[in-house]
Amino acid sequence: MKFSALLAAQLVSSAVAIQLAPRGEYPRVVGLDIQRRHVVNPVAHDRLRRRKTVQQTLDNLDTLYFANASLGTPPQKFRTHIDTGSSDLWVNAATSQLCQQGGNQCGASGTYNANDSSTYQYVNGAFNISYVDGSGASGDYVKDTMRFGGLTIKDLQFGVGYTSSSPEAILGIGYTINEVAVGRGGLKPYPNLPQKLVDDGTVNTNAYSLWLNDLDASTGSILFGGVDSDKFHGQLQTLPIIPQNGVYAEFIIALTGLGQNNKNGSIFQNENVAVLLDSGSSLTYLPDNVVRSLYHTFDAQYDASQGLAIVNCDVANQEGTLDFNFSGVTISVPINELVIVAAVSRGQRICMFGVGPAGSSGSVLGDTFLRSAYVVYDLANNEISLAQTNFNATTENIQEIKKGSEGVPNATGVPNAVSTAPVGTSGPRINGPSITGEIITKSTGGAMPGASANPWIGGAAAAVGAGVMLGFNGF
Ligand SMILES: *[C@@H]1O[C@H](CO)[C@@H](O)[C@H](O)[C@H]1NC(C)=O
Ligand SMILES: *[C@@H]1O[C@H](CO)[C@@H](O)[C@H](O)[C@H]1NC(C)=O
Ligand SMILES: *[C@@H]1O[C@H](CO)[C@@H](O)[C@H](O)[C@H]1NC(C)=O
Ligand SMILES: *[C@@H]1O[C@H](CO)[C@@H](O)[C@H](O)[C@H]1NC(C)=O
Ligand SMILES: *[C@@H]1O[C@H](CO)[C@@H](O)[C@H](O)[C@H]1NC(C)=O
Ligand SMILES: *[C@@H]1O[C@H](CO)[C@@H](O)[C@H](O)[C@H]1NC(C)=O
Ligand SMILES: *[C@@H]1O[C@H](CO)[C@@H](O)[C@H](O)[C@H]1NC(C)=O
Repeated sequence: MKFSALLAAQLVSSAVAIQLAPRGEYPRVVGLDIQRRHVVNPVAHDRLRRRKTVQQTLDNLDTLYFANASLGTPPQKFRTHIDTGSSDLWVNAATSQLCQQGGNQCGASGTYNANDSSTYQYVNGAFNISYVDGSGASGDYVKDTMRFGGLTIKDLQFGVGYTSSSPEAILGIGYTINEVAVGRGGLKPYPNLPQKLVDDGTVNTNAYSLWLNDLDASTGSILFGGVDSDKFHGQLQTLPIIPQNGVYAEFIIALTGLGQNNKNGSIFQNENVAVLLDSGSSLTYLPDNVVRSLYHTFDAQYDASQGLAIVNCDVANQEGTLDFNFSGVTISVPINELVIVAAVSRGQRICMFGVGPAGSSGSVLGDTFLRSAYVVYDLANNEISLAQTNFNATTENIQEIKKGSEGVPNATGVPNAVSTAPVGTSGPRINGPSITGEIITKSTGGAMPGASANPWIGGAAAAVGAGVMLGFNGF
């Protein structure tokens, strides 16, 4: 793998911050409830989507956060997986071999039939997504009417998988430059959903907020063009997104330290790790030496063959937090958010730890981190605003995000925020920070991957093994 050798540098961030305005009579904010579903095997899921090349994501096993939407006229219904780690909306064609097979695999997510829609338009045949395990989906880019949350979006471009090996419908909401039409097709970017909402004048600017809520809650929400200030504590603080080779393509920011129980940087500090904010990843993946330290602290037993660590379920009863520092902005993740019931075997719960080793891939802040944060993805200004989430908030106070970067600073820019960190061509580079806390001294359940070993390659066999050995289907 090739990595750019950018030296980490501290740059003074501009005072730029998102500007909010009260929602008027005709709010330019689009809200959508999202729903969480159990994953059958989150590690297998993440393994497949953590890609080696700049391709696309995959979900052929399980998914987490869904939103309902429809495509076509009359509406054909879909359950779409919200994914900040990719940029195309795509659905399966009803006629694909996968969806025609027995078992109604595509039933839960929905399928698209162009001939049943009076508003269908063919765009090109360049839709082609590949997965790490060699499977993929290909077919047409089309345009049709999308409806969600009471909103109608005409002529939205999306992919239709006529050949496919994933039954999911994915709603990728990242930068348009990361569309497979661009990366693989060599075509110009097209307006994906977040950009189309701006182009149509539905929202003011290409920015949205994602609130995943508590592990024990089943719903969260996404707000295009808006912020709900009742869903977080304190103030939003704004950090720069880190470009890759000068291009803003993914939601990568710098993690500058990690502590435990409010002890600043007790695990590491004074080093910058590029991390990808990815709602499509179930777990969080950090540099191996960081993860070793965590496994030691929580007595988690790593199983290399499965690429996950088993932890005593009682750890969920521990008070305390893991504190992620981003240039001085701290998001504290309660320990109980990091203990996931993976299976029930003979009446016994089996729990997995919510952080895995990144191995030779980039670090990823997935749902086990993201649930504790309220995150505004500001694609227009290439910034991320963060605040500590307000779990289970029931009230709302929705504000529009205004166009541009001037004005009332309801989100404040973080002074001297780290705006570069070594980033690989296939996602953030792990920079193996030196651990300042305890290092592991005793054996865990299995060998942790070394610098060159990558537990995620090995794919289907290991995934099946996890399912069998842990009884992942036992929900
Ligand atoms: C999506 O639709 C299904 C089926 O109609 C419904 O049960 C579910 O509550 C909806 N989810 C959301 C988040 O609106
Ligand atoms: C639509 O109908 C035409 C004519 O019957 C057929 O050739 C084509 O394969 C159909 N397309 C789809 C996507 O079903
Ligand atoms: C999709 O792209 C891959 C890799 O470039 C290629 O091998 C495959 O043939 C393409 N599929 C289609 C249907 O064009
Ligand atoms: C949020 O609500 C869920 C479901 O009612 C509950 O289990 C959980 O403990 C609540 N979380 C917090 C942080 O209050
Ligand atoms: C943590 O940082 C804060 C603010 O920089 C400082 O006041 C506090 O003393 C630090 N605590 C520790 C344990 O280093
Ligand atoms: C967070 O990281 C920044 C940048 O390395 C550092 O200056 C600051 O002291 C850290 N703050 C805490 C609370 O650890
Ligand atoms: C945004 O900032 C303005 C001015 O500081 C303040 O009046 C308003 O209450 C803030 N809104 C929120 C939601 O915090």
